[in-house]
Amino acid sequence: MPTLKFAVLAGDYIGPEVMTEALRVLDHVARQENLKLDYKLADVGGAGIDNHGKALPDSTVKTCEQSDAILFGSVGGPKWEKLPPKEQPERAALLPLRKHFTLFANIRPGLLYRELADASPIKSERIPDGIDIVCIRELTGGLYFGQPKTTTTLPDGDVQSVDTMVYRKSEIERIVATAITTARARKKKLCSVDKANVLETSVLWRKTVTDYVAKNAPEIELSHMYVDNAAMQLVRNPNQFDVFVTENMFGDILSDEMACVCGSLGMLSSASLGAGKNSLGLPFGLYEPAGGTAPDIAGKGIANPCAQILSAALMLRFSFGLDKVATRIEAAVKKAVTSGTRTGDIAFGRPSVGTKAMADAVIAAL
Ligand code: IPM
Ligand code: MG
Repeated sequence: MPTLKFAVLAGDYIGPEVMTEALRVLDHVARQENLKLDYKLADVGGAGIDNHGKALPDSTVKTCEQSDAILFGSVGGPKWEKLPPKEQPERAALLPLRKHFTLFANIRPGLLYRELADASPIKSERIPDGIDIVCIRELTGGLYFGQPKTTTTLPDGDVQSVDTMVYRKSEIERIVATAITTARARKKKLCSVDKANVLETSVLWRKTVTDYVAKNAPEIELSHMYVDNAAMQLVRNPNQFDVFVTENMFGDILSDEMACVCGSLGMLSSASLGAGKNSLGLPFGLYEPAGGTAPDIAGKGIANPCAQILSAALMLRFSFGLDKVATRIEAAVKKAVTSGTRTGDIAFGRPSVGTKAMADAVIAAL
């Protein structure tokens, strides 16, 4: 019986609520498919600070290192906002985790089912078939990690902060390679998003992407777009993108915009893959919903578990090679959210059947 060995880092606020439901779905699938789940829970984020004095406890890193994948919830929230910025859960847990495992490729599917087109803030007639695009975000470079990253008081008493945007050609090439793989499996169309009219890193980005695609994937139809224009085009006509690839910060912003355009942050799953392979010879990855801890709805049992469930499906696909099982989970989520059990649009405050009922509907559809 194949064994799925993964670390479960649920995190804070709605993190554990939606994680419980995703694990319930996985348990159900494992029984159906004769798979053995071997997962280990570990504290991260605020839970790490509260229980171990550190957002990313060493024991948690060790648990992750001994696993074939990480299923991640979300971290951070008001309880820890008064800590120095460098100790806060997002900066002290999630970013080091991404860096530690060199998870440079963040894949975020922007999916809106046709049946839910009215959940999008875009007029339904503009997206008659829903939305189906993919954001590929570089995740371990750029402004998030570049050095120097400092705040200093200047001789004249003024205070100055510096963030540094750095990219190496090799970092750009490896994320483009991921984008090409994704584009090849879809419509063979790739849009690279940058700010090459202003930023040096973007000039290098554009040249590197152009050369790399010409040399390695001439069959891919490549286009380039400035990030400000891309932000506009994403609300004007999201389906003009099939796959877009961009640097870390731009990808952070555009992926939230994409999630909103797709109806809800509560549906946005993601896979963060690196160069590393797991014990099965498949990509080691971290799988997380991209919607955050949603402190305002935590404890109410109304958070949408779909992004967490869909992230678990991505884990099965990429880190365990179980594409068919992943597709089955994705189809079950689709069935559940398009057949009356709607929590897909929680981000816009619409009524919900609740976290558990939503997962029940997914299980019933499996
Ligand atoms: C995301 C999140 C994180 C990011 C935060 C929580 C550090 O917004 O995954 O998009 O900026 O990468
Ligand atoms: Mg974000």
